[in-house]
Amino acid sequence: MKKILDLITDEVTEAFTACGYDAKYGRVTLSNRPDLCEFQCNGALAAAKEYKKAPFLIADEVAAKLAGRPMFSAAESVKPGFLNLKLKEEYLASYLSDMQADEGRYGCEKPGQPKTIIVDYGGANVAKPLHVGHLRSAIIGESIKRMGRFVGHRMIGDVHLGDWGLQMGLIIVELKERKPGLVYFDESYTGEYPAEAPFTISELEEIYPTASKKSKEDEAYREAAMQATGELQQGRRGYRALLSHILNVSVTDLKKNYESLNVSFDLWKGESDAQPYIPDMVQRMKDEGFAYMSDGALVVDVSEETDAKEVPPCIILKSDGASLYSTTDLATIVWRMQDYNPDGMIYLADKRQELHFIQVFRCARKTGLVKPETELTHIGFGTMNGKDGKPFKTRDGGVMRLEYLVNEINEEMLKKINENQKSKENLSISPKEAEETARMVALAAIKYGDLSNQAGKDYIFDIDRFTSFEGNTGPYILYTIVRIKSILNKYYGAGKNTEGAAIEGAHSGSEKNLMLELSKFNEVVANAFDELAPHKLCAYIYELANAFNSFYHETKIMSEENERIQKSYIRLLELTKSILETCIDMLGFSAPERM
Ligand code: ARG
Repeated sequence: MKKILDLITDEVTEAFTACGYDAKYGRVTLSNRPDLCEFQCNGALAAAKEYKKAPFLIADEVAAKLAGRPMFSAAESVKPGFLNLKLKEEYLASYLSDMQADEGRYGCEKPGQPKTIIVDYGGANVAKPLHVGHLRSAIIGESIKRMGRFVGHRMIGDVHLGDWGLQMGLIIVELKERKPGLVYFDESYTGEYPAEAPFTISELEEIYPTASKKSKEDEAYREAAMQATGELQQGRRGYRALLSHILNVSVTDLKKNYESLNVSFDLWKGESDAQPYIPDMVQRMKDEGFAYMSDGALVVDVSEETDAKEVPPCIILKSDGASLYSTTDLATIVWRMQDYNPDGMIYLADKRQELHFIQVFRCARKTGLVKPETELTHIGFGTMNGKDGKPFKTRDGGVMRLEYLVNEINEEMLKKINENQKSKENLSISPKEAEETARMVALAAIKYGDLSNQAGKDYIFDIDRFTSFEGNTGPYILYTIVRIKSILNKYYGAGKNTEGAAIEGAHSGSEKNLMLELSKFNEVVANAFDELAPHKLCAYIYELANAFNSFYHETKIMSEENERIQKSYIRLLELTKSILETCIDMLGFSAPERM
């Protein structure tokens, strides 16, 4: 379906040309004076210059042409030369009926040429507990993947685990200190290694911070860890076997964590998967003259003349021949192009990594790892802060683990839900349903709290505000959906039906306002995905929920005596519910039956 704004623009453009003016003046926008009109066209003001005519004369002519068209209930020329437009109720209603008939898509056309896009998000570091810093990457990335999928692209989510580098050497060294007799450390051993890991996830999670702390205090320990990392990277058998144990144990735990966030990945690749591609890539960069030695390191120049700030060369290999974060990211691009030939890659990582991605993207382009048209995008997100404006911490000042954070909010939500239920004596839900509902609402609180902010900005994680049932929050959106569900249940529960009924022209201002909001859906979705901006989807559903709630408070739906009108209300409610549910699904959460 065409976007409503385009349909209106077509109509107005046609009137402009019929009056002898250029088509470009017919562009229509949403009104910035909703008290006066719904849409507006300012083309007459611009046309006045070209045609040397008073703008209001032009606007008068166009308005006269539009008079009596079935699309508008009002098309007025207003001095100095605005065209103020209002849609006819029936026209809007039939647009919504078409949306409703287009089940699942609600008027969103699929792209003619779907793209293949890899979303690199999550980025958890193996053996280190997930902390709130990884929360944003997971939440925003998941939403972008889902939006792209809804729009109609082939979106591939890759968790891109941090499973390479010093942390692995640290774990190996610490393990060796604790259990020196393990067969993995015996270099003369040539047999099979045990299938069972020599540690549990809780041991593993404790080993890393202990080792990391020791390495900062003990130079020899650190040396040993670097040595072990090197040997692992050279392919020492026993260490490789340990790495796969570490990966297995970690990934099982990570999957559980991500699942509780309603986040899932198509690919569980990591930095280690890129390593086999490094030697060839480096050789090519050398052979083709892109890479050169500088202060002992192998680098590729990536500065550009137009750079306002210096962009240092991209380091490919350190002077000791070791690869770096950028090397891994470049080699990852190599296998992604080889296996998926994507049209684009989108990376979710802290905005402090901006320079890294500029270097990597430029280097990949310059050395021909990607096609000239391959889009490489870094979405740099800001920090999640506590109420004190400093990076979010636990009460005792440590880094907050994701699990704890989620549990804390679940509990908070459960309290609210139980209180809420107490006030509605007739609606007591079972403790199990209450718990499940609390989890759903808590997830909405966390995700909406994050996604409703522009990704690049820091934001304050305010549990009290995020879990509130009122205001611009996830629970408010869910509450609105639950309210609609409850009306629909009552209606159908009473044995009524909407057979043969369609959405009618609005019967009131608040109903029309709701209908106008609904009609924007395809436009908003397309725009939010183009700009990779889930916050625009959040802003939309907040407006939509507000529009619905005003309509609800002003309208007697269940006691409406005219059956035809009541059916039309119910159809409108159903569309509102579908749109809200489709949007929250793109944001990565869902609504309970009641709360
Ligand atoms: N593991 C990294 C971190 O914790 C994030 C990875 C982002 N993705 C990438 N391809 N570099 O900071």
